[in-house]
Amino acid sequence: MLFPDYRPRRLRQSQAFRRMVRETSLAVDDLILPLFAVGGKQVRHPIASMPGHFQLSTDELVKTCREAFALGIPAVILFGIPETKDPLGTQAYAPGGIVQRAVKAVKNALPELAVITDVCLCQYTDHGHCGCLEQGVVDNDASLDLIARTALSHAKAGADMVAPSDMMDGRVAEIREALDESGFSRVPIMAYSAKYCSAYYGPFRAAADSAPKFGDRRTYQMDPANALEALREVSMDVEEGADIVMVKPALAYLDVICRVREEFDLPVAAYNVSGEYAMIKAAEQMGWLDGPRVMMETLTAIKRAGADLILTYFAMDAARALRP
Ligand code: PBG
Ligand code: ZN
Repeated sequence: MLFPDYRPRRLRQSQAFRRMVRETSLAVDDLILPLFAVGGKQVRHPIASMPGHFQLSTDELVKTCREAFALGIPAVILFGIPETKDPLGTQAYAPGGIVQRAVKAVKNALPELAVITDVCLCQYTDHGHCGCLEQGVVDNDASLDLIARTALSHAKAGADMVAPSDMMDGRVAEIREALDESGFSRVPIMAYSAKYCSAYYGPFRAAADSAPKFGDRRTYQMDPANALEALREVSMDVEEGADIVMVKPALAYLDVICRVREEFDLPVAAYNVSGEYAMIKAAEQMGWLDGPRVMMETLTAIKRAGADLILTYFAMDAARALRP
């Protein structure tokens, strides 16, 4: 079809037509809100590089969850900031740890809100790496047990789903086995399958106090230049028992989201990470961008690329914008 027989503008002339032929729609059902839990009471400590986000004590966290639930957001994902750190990240799997307490409080107040927990050691280790060390190197196999223990302790606290973000090889199988052995075969695993070694995590690391104290995460997180390797990572996680696979970050990896969506039939999640949020908020504060419009365009793009679920710090703002 060629001009003048075909005129693409015909179907763009009215809001009604545009709505009728729209290919992608973002829904509040797609959104997962990340939240940061700290100890104490009535703590609402602002995160400078993530305007609108706070380190929240459990009482305040429950309040925020109530708002999210009222807006129709189906799930939150919790990150913990522990009081103490040590080489083995023991507070990650302590029954009275910060995430375990936060999960209990939220599930108690809002049983219908799905509570997902991020499973990793980096906030809990004194060296800031996602696994334990052996002679200064992150030891894959020794870390697996600690990561599985963390996931199990979250399930015991009442988590509805666990999300390992450590990028150790074999962790999904290890977690699945640990959960199944202890009677948690109903708890799904959302695997951070293709998690890249990204500078877009900067604001998160400040918020969660989880930056590595030496070196970087290149020996376990993926090289941003690789896409085929992402498919291998996803395929391993699927074989090991993942229920949802994730690509992270989202914006610089839309091609990866698209390829994963095409090759696998599990739900695909994408993590619109802290740096992606910070860039838009900063430009908005400078008066350089229309923040709300860029937010919706960005989330729609992630959906269009093939994500079924989006973990995003914009979840509340987007849920408000989507309200009928
Ligand atoms: C922990 C973890 C990180 C993020 C989620 N889980 C940081 C990292 O890997 O250093 C990043 C989230 C974000 O930037 O919003 N492993
Ligand atoms: Zn980590």
